[in-house]
Amino acid sequence: KSIVVLISGNGSNLQAIIDACSKGYIQGEVKAVIANKDSAYGLTRASEAGIPTAVLSHIGAASRESYDQKLIQSIEQYQPDLVVLAGFMRILTPEFVKHFDGRLLNIHPSLMPKYPGLHTHQRAIDAKDTEHGSSVHFVTDQLDGGPVILQAKVPIFPDDDITSLAERVHEQEYRIYPLVIRWFCQNRLQQRADQAWLDGNLL
Ligand code: GRF
Repeated sequence: KSIVVLISGNGSNLQAIIDACSKGYIQGEVKAVIANKDSAYGLTRASEAGIPTAVLSHIGAASRESYDQKLIQSIEQYQPDLVVLAGFMRILTPEFVKHFDGRLLNIHPSLMPKYPGLHTHQRAIDAKDTEHGSSVHFVTDQLDGGPVILQAKVPIFPDDDITSLAERVHEQEYRIYPLVIRWFCQNRLQQRADQAWLDGNLL
């Protein structure tokens, strides 16, 4: 299967996906990495792996709609079976989401439906939650709210700060995101309307 990954930053999840593809854990290939910022370190990771990159800056774009149209065109050059959002820090238009319906994944660092949006680690600490985590989900019109495919839970300890907690969550993300992409590439995973199905079972 061919995969296009969208990033805005460090790209450590991208790295986990690239590694999983090269090991054959994911039966797929990252055909391109597209960022909305030229400073995204994930672009360097992609280049080092010999993967084509593109930067499509949102600065100066006439509108969210026109940016997303360009983004669709840029992605479609690679005819991907799957589009993976890996720390892509933009809210996507309904048109974009619809275009990639059923083949658009995101990872959100919370135990969804908790904490849509930003600063999830801080919010979990502030709320004195005893557990936190990350969720891989199909993307729908709902911000950080599409059907959840797989979650990883981690404990929150009393002496945790954002850094220690984020690190614990990240370690789990490097397991669950490649696993979900593996399932997708094995044709085991499907989105039907607002539901995610694995091997014919509702998740
Ligand atoms: C991850 O924690 C992911 O859950 C969130 O953004 C972060 C991206 O980190 N959507 P990285 O760029 O993959 O290192």
